Amino acid sequence: MRLLWLFALFIFVPTKGLSPVDKLRNKIFTIERQQWIHLNDQQWRTSGSADIDLAKVFVLFDGEIHRWPLAAPPVLSSSWWKKPQKQVRHIQEMYATFLEFMRRQTEPGVKPARVREWLSLAASVLSDPKTAVSRAMSQLHQSVLRDQMFQNVLQEQRKYYNRSELCELQVSPHQLIYDLYNTIALAEIKGYVMMQFSWMLLKIYRPGNITEEVNQTRVQYEGDAIQIAEKTGNALANATRELYRCDPLQHIEGQTYDQITRLMQGYIENEVNMNNENTCRQNCEYYNVAKYYNCFKDQFCSRQPKCKGHILGCYFVKSDMTVCTSSYKSHRRYEWIRYSNGPKFGEANNCTLQKGNTYQVNSWWRGWFLHCSYCMCLCDDPENSDRYFSLKEATSNIRENKVVTGIRLVKQNNVFHIQISEGTLLKNGIVSPGSWLPNKIIKINDQNMKNGIDYHTLNHGTRAIDLDDLVAPAGWVLTGVRFRILGAHLNLNIRATKLNFETGHLSEDSMWIDNDNTDGSKTPRSRLTLNRPNLPTRSLAALPVDSKHDQFLEFTHSDFDKDAAQSTVPFIDVQPLEPYGRGVLLSGAGVSHRGAVGSGGFVALKLFTYDYAPHVRVRHPRDPSSPQP
Ligand SMILES: *[C@@H]1O[C@H](CO)[C@@H](O)[C@H](O)[C@H]1NC(C)=O
Ligand SMILES: *[C@@H]1O[C@H](CO)[C@@H](O)[C@H](O)[C@H]1NC(C)=O
Ligand SMILES: *[C@@H]1O[C@H](CO)[C@@H](O)[C@H](O)[C@H]1NC(C)=O
Ligand SMILES: *[C@@H]1O[C@H](CO)[C@@H](O)[C@H](O)[C@H]1NC(C)=O
Ligand SMILES: *[C@@H]1O[C@H](CO)[C@@H](O)[C@H](O)[C@H]1NC(C)=O
Repeated sequence: MRLLWLFALFIFVPTKGLSPVDKLRNKIFTIERQQWIHLNDQQWRTSGSADIDLAKVFVLFDGEIHRWPLAAPPVLSSSWWKKPQKQVRHIQEMYATFLEFMRRQTEPGVKPARVREWLSLAASVLSDPKTAVSRAMSQLHQSVLRDQMFQNVLQEQRKYYNRSELCELQVSPHQLIYDLYNTIALAEIKGYVMMQFSWMLLKIYRPGNITEEVNQTRVQYEGDAIQIAEKTGNALANATRELYRCDPLQHIEGQTYDQITRLMQGYIENEVNMNNENTCRQNCEYYNVAKYYNCFKDQFCSRQPKCKGHILGCYFVKSDMTVCTSSYKSHRRYEWIRYSNGPKFGEANNCTLQKGNTYQVNSWWRGWFLHCSYCMCLCDDPENSDRYFSLKEATSNIRENKVVTGIRLVKQNNVFHIQISEGTLLKNGIVSPGSWLPNKIIKINDQNMKNGIDYHTLNHGTRAIDLDDLVAPAGWVLTGVRFRILGAHLNLNIRATKLNFETGHLSEDSMWIDNDNTDGSKTPRSRLTLNRPNLPTRSLAALPVDSKHDQFLEFTHSDFDKDAAQSTVPFIDVQPLEPYGRGVLLSGAGVSHRGAVGSGGFVALKLFTYDYAPHVRVRHPRDPSSPQP
């Protein structure tokens, strides 16, 4: 009978919208107050089973901890986490021992522990210099606040792109701070509960006035908890919620990056083949927009695949050259071009049979006046070219309460698709580990698939992609992504759905969010220009993000000198992006560019984690008239 009343206190504590640890803290304040009411009751205290009742309450409280599952603490090797982690572990071990003891006492039929054992447990928590929880608590507090742990995380923001630990973990600084806060605050709660219950045991067994000590413990804990919550709040406000993949140490095509191919590719053609009459009356520059007609006298034109699309921007370099043509399997036409007494295009390598063949290619004179020049041009030939983007949306199943937990670009059938992973939204902002959803795969040759509706085709007039950050309003989460075409640009959209953080339910309200600014508006999008771009895979240093919101870039050919204009840049980053490799609550996505001067860089998707700042708070449910020990 008495116990029923005792446990009634577990039913209601108002904690709406708080993070799980902040809820838990409010719970223990209530539990603690209730227990002191009993302990101040002389009759209850001396009933003979007060200690067992206390143990039962403790075990119940432990159940509360597990009722609100917390994400597993991050595994970090950063130096600033070493000290706090050590103290957290210490408190957790103590707690496990304490809990084990208490649980044993509540088991039916178990021989009750002797008073000496109870007291020894309390002493190990409160006063034993080796194991005292208060010492571990104050060291934890110091290592977090005095050693400026949160400052250190904020500083990592600047180093994020450089393959930092956070980037490797795929976690935003904001998310990490929130997760560290939960880990630390939970350890502090466990420590505090052990101390309070130890005082209570002393109160049962030992006459004497411990009002002062109990008050001290509580004042200390409350002060520390408030301080840490405040620091966390500040740090969360300053920490970025964006995350993206950093350059891998090794670039592997098809695994870490993929390429758009043969969009405006460097192409050698003789002017005699670019007009109907096989004349050489013009010069290279005349052929700014041209096409291939036929192959005059089986010259070099018969040794290379002809350009079946537009030939663009021809210019004259030198009359004679050596060309190393690429294998038919390659998406390149040429490995390199060496002009006699002149520049060399592309990186020198041995022109072996695997790579291709070497040809001597010489311009010639027709009569006295007409020079039949070999020109350097660009070929925009959609045949055998990977230049498509799916416009199908990738959405999580909101009817089953699923949210997006990860995102990546993949090339399937020459078409780039956005793929998402989804997980189930649970209570208090927790999301179950995500799994990747299959894509609606686009097949370009399928009659039912329409250019401009189902997919987008890049060509020399439509090859721009918008670089935007799209973030849902507070209280909305990411449930979908898609590309659409806006003013001939590829433009990312996100779908956001309203959630109830507390209950973990998605509402019926969803909306698509975009940045519909164009480069032709009153305040136009700005262009990110690629300056003589080399292949990004040739850069050893990690490339930083060099784009910002409301920009765009155009896919183009790599530099003539560096690569004979054989590749399309930027490359596409296809590394999956999923926080911690399992997914967390997200509220936005974007497209950005990682690059540097002279590098084509990578176009990559990014994510924004959920804003937890409103959910971190310490509240005092205690009123001034609450009972004292
Ligand atoms: C990036 O990280 C590497 C290895 O940790 C370091 O050697 C290099 O100096 C860093 N680069 C910058 C610009 O911080
Ligand atoms: C215990 O000590 C405090 C001051 O430390 C005092 O206010 C309180 O009345 C004392 N309680 C009892 C029961 O003596
Ligand atoms: C508890 O201690 C604090 C500071 O040490 C003091 O201000 C407060 O009055 C004390 N409360 C009680 C009930 O003794
Ligand atoms: C963090 O934000 C607070 C205000 O929210 C500001 O006072 C403080 O200077 C910021 N700290 C850093 C390191 O940016
Ligand atoms: C070409 O091959 C030779 C011998 O096989 C080698 O010594 C040389 O470094 C190679 N050159 C290039 C540019 O790969």
